[in-house]
Amino acid sequence: MEKIIVCGGKPLHGTLRVQGSKNAALPILAACVLIRGVTVLENCPDLSDVRAAVAILRHLGCVAKREGHRLTVDSRCISCYTIPNELMREMRSSIVFLGSVLARTGNAVLCAPGGCEIGLRPIDLHLSALRALGAAIDDENGILRCHAKRLRGATVRLPIPSVGATENALLAAVTAKGDTLLCGAAREPEIDDLVLFLNACGARIARTGEGDLSVRGVQTLHGCRHRVIPDRIAALSVMAAVGAAGGNVLLENAAPAHLEAASQVLRRAGCRVEETGGSLTVAAEGRLRAVPSIETRPHPGFPTDGQAVLMAMLSTAKGKSRVTETIFENRFHHVDALRRMGANICLRGRCAIVEGVPTLYGAAVTARDLRAGAALIVAGLGAQGTTVIDGVRHIDRGYEKIEACFKTLGAQIERSADSGSEQPQSE
Ligand code: UD1
Repeated sequence: MEKIIVCGGKPLHGTLRVQGSKNAALPILAACVLIRGVTVLENCPDLSDVRAAVAILRHLGCVAKREGHRLTVDSRCISCYTIPNELMREMRSSIVFLGSVLARTGNAVLCAPGGCEIGLRPIDLHLSALRALGAAIDDENGILRCHAKRLRGATVRLPIPSVGATENALLAAVTAKGDTLLCGAAREPEIDDLVLFLNACGARIARTGEGDLSVRGVQTLHGCRHRVIPDRIAALSVMAAVGAAGGNVLLENAAPAHLEAASQVLRRAGCRVEETGGSLTVAAEGRLRAVPSIETRPHPGFPTDGQAVLMAMLSTAKGKSRVTETIFENRFHHVDALRRMGANICLRGRCAIVEGVPTLYGAAVTARDLRAGAALIVAGLGAQGTTVIDGVRHIDRGYEKIEACFKTLGAQIERSADSGSEQPQSE
C-alpha cells in the first residue's frame, strides 16, 4: 500500500496553480448524460472520483476521452439505464446520476449508496425531489427502480440546502415538461458552475432568490465547451498548510470570491491573505493565534470540507479554538491522528476544542477519509520530524498528485510503496 512521507518544518514558498474542482466536475459529468451531443470539459481534474464518474458514463454508452485536463464526452448514444453496484460503490456521490439517467431514458436502476466515513448521508431529499417531479421510485432492499415517461415541472422545497439533492433536482428538471421552482436550494459555487454548464447546453435556469432556482424545461440539450471552476477546498488545503508550516505562496486560478469565509478565518489566525485578480497570496510567519469560534455552514459560510485542514493548522496556534461541525455528524476522524502527533484536542459532541501546542511531532498515522487525509499532510508539513501517512487512496479521491504540488513549494514530501520494513507502526 502506498504511503505519503512528509519531513516537516520547512516553510512553503512559490507559485501553484489550483486544480479544477472535483465537486463541480462530478455533477457536470452526470449532466453529460442529458446531452445529445459532445461536451468538452477543460480544467477537469484527474482524480480517482472523476475516473469513477467516467467509468459510469462509459458503462451507460458514452465515449469519453481524456487529454491532460481536457475531457471530451460524446453522449449521443446512451444505451443503458442501470448502474451496477460495483460502479456505484466506487463513489458515494454517484447518486447524482439518478436524475440525469432518469430524465434521459425514462428509467434508472441503481443501488442506494450507504453511509460513509463522515456520516449517514441519507438520500431522502434526492428521492422526494424526484418524486415531486413525477418519478415513481421503488426501493427494493436498497436497489432503487425509478421510472418516469417524462418528468414534469413542479415546485420542489428542500428543507435543508443539500448540495447533492439540489444537483439531482436540477438535472431532472432541465428537460422536464414545464417549469420548476426549486426552493431552499444549495448556494455552493459548484451549483453555480453546474447551472452555467447546463445553460451553455441550452437549459434555461435562473437564480430568482438567494436559495431559489427557477427552471424552464426544454426538450433537449446540446453539447458545449466548459471550463470547470477552481477547487476551493484544494486551495484552502494549501492555504492551511502555509499557515501550519509558514512561508509565502501565490495560488493562481484560485477564485478568491469562493474562499471569502475561509480567507477571513485565516486572517483572524494571523495569516496574510491577499487577492490579486483571480489569484491569492497567502503568507504566514511564526506561531499563529487561535480563532475562538468557527462553525461549518453551507456556502457562503465556512465549508465543512475545510474543517479538517483548518483544525490541523489551529493545532499549533497560540490559545484555544473551538471548531463546531454543523453539517455532518461524524467528521472528526482526523482528531485521533492529530492527537498522535501531539495535538491537544478535546471532542464534545459536534464541537472540537483545540488547545494549541507549540509544535506537532511526526508520527505514523492513517487517513480515514479524504479531507482527514489532507489534514494529516497539513499537520505533517508543520510538524517536527517525519510523518508517514497511510490510507493514501482516500486522499487521491480528491487531490491531484498532492505530493507533487507541495514539492514544487519546497516541501520534503514523497509517495512510497510500502516496503513492509522499518516503517513506524501504523495507528
Ligand atoms: C457535497 C459535497 C461534499 C460536501 C457537502 C456539503 C460533492 C461530491 N460532495 O456532499 O464534499 O461536504 O456537499 O458541502 O459535491 N442530507 C439529508 N438528506 C439528503 C441529503 C443530505 O439529510 O437526502 C443531509 C446530509 O446528511 C448532511 C447535509 O444534508 O448532513 C448536507 O449534505 P449534502 O449537502 O447533501 O452533501 P453532499 O451533496 O452529499
